[in-house]
Parts: sequence; C-alpha cells; structure tokens
Amino acid sequence: MRMRKKKHGAERIAACAELLIPCPPEKDIREYFESERPLHLEIGCGKGGFACDLTSREHGFNLVAMERSSDAACVALERAKASSDTRPDNLRFFIANAEHLTDYIPEKSVECIYLNFSDPWPKKGYYKRRLTYTAFLEQYRKILVPGGMLKQKTDNQGLFEFSLEQFAAAGLTVERVTYDLHNSDMAEGNVVTEYESLFVSQGKPIYSAWVRF
Ligand SMILES: C[S@@+](CC[C@H](N)C(=O)[O-])C[C@H]1O[C@@H](n2cnc3c(N)ncnc32)[C@H](O)[C@@H]1O
Repeated sequence: MRMRKKKHGAERIAACAELLIPCPPEKDIREYFESERPLHLEIGCGKGGFACDLTSREHGFNLVAMERSSDAACVALERAKASSDTRPDNLRFFIANAEHLTDYIPEKSVECIYLNFSDPWPKKGYYKRRLTYTAFLEQYRKILVPGGMLKQKTDNQGLFEFSLEQFAAAGLTVERVTYDLHNSDMAEGNVVTEYESLFVSQGKPIYSAWVRF
C-alpha cells in the first residue's frame, strides 16, 4: 500500500498510544490487552478496516493488527480510536515488519493469522518477500499454537497459486479453499477489507484458503 506521508504522523500516532504496542514490545504482547483471551494476528492491516470491523463483531479473542507502514498504521489507529468511546479492549496495533515476527511474538501464542490482500510481489526476484514464502511459513509455525490456523484472502491469482504450492511443500493442510469467496459457502461471516471492497466493486473474484498448522 503506497500512501502519502502523513503530516504530523509521529504526533498523531503518539496520540493513540493506548492502542499501540511499542516496537520492540516492552513485555509479552499478550500483556497489552486488559483481558486474557486467545490471540489472533493480522499481518499487513493497512488502514485497519478489517481489524476494527472484526473486533467490534467478535469479542472472543484479542487481535494484534500489524503493519509496517507507519502512514497506514496512523490511519488505522485513528480509525480505531474514533470507532469507540472507550478504548477497544480486544484490539491493539503493532508497527513492525513481519520479517521479524519471531523476535516480537512468543512461541505458540497465536491461534489464527490473517493475511488479507498481501502485496503480491509479482517480479520473479522478489518472491521471498511474499508473506506465504516458506521462510514466513516457518515463522508462523513457531508462533502459532499447534493446530493454529492461517486465513488468506487475495485477488491475485499468481500469489494464490504460489501460496498453495508453498503450503503443500511445507506439509500443511488446506482445510478450506475457494476461487470465488463471495459466491461460496466461505462468504458467511466474511469481514470485508478495504482492498477487498475495491476489487469486488470491479467484479474481480476473491481467492481464499484456510490452512491448518
Ligand atoms: C495491499 S495492502 C492490503 C491492506 C489491507 N490488508 C486490505 O486488505 O485492505 C498490504 C499491506 O500489507 C503491508 N505489509 C506488506 N508487507 C508487510 C510486512 N512484511 N510486514 C508488515 N506489513 C506488511 C503493507 O504496508 C500494506 O499496508
């Protein structure tokens, strides 16, 4: 997501500090939530639409919404802050690059990871940056609880096919898969992201897979 640099970004982010996990975290990331609940992680939350909608609908888990772009995270934080009179107790943001996931997130602590419309990195030489590349899957294996789940959505057929190959090579079980999410039984309960909304309005099919670790 290319975004224009936010004016006074650092000050605006600081004004939402109660929703932010510092990087590096000063304690176990689970301790930034008021209640102990299963932990979910969204990687690349962009402007935070999915994170805000999901956590306002579902209160059975805590969500860490991770984003490497501080400009996108700034929008997401302000959105979360504006969406509630009190600070949401099940949502925290974390501005960091997923390349360093295992430095920040404890082993066997996460029940579900969401990858929504991750950058496809279509050029051949950049495939190692795709968030379903084997090196990322190995990090997910470490932080997920045994039997934890990865839920991927994308509009990009090339990224999706690459991802399915990576899942198979890693010996993972794809429990559910669709090549047209919005016209499938996986649409029930689906929380639409900003990118998804755009692609659906353009008539593009959405690919999705749920992968058990
Ligand atoms: C195409 S946007 C999708 C945003 C949002 N998930 C949606 O569906 O509307 C991808 C987002 O992932 C973030 N991202 C890409 N690689 C990342 C990484 N390694 N760690 C954290 N965030 C990343 C980008 O900065 C961008 O905001």
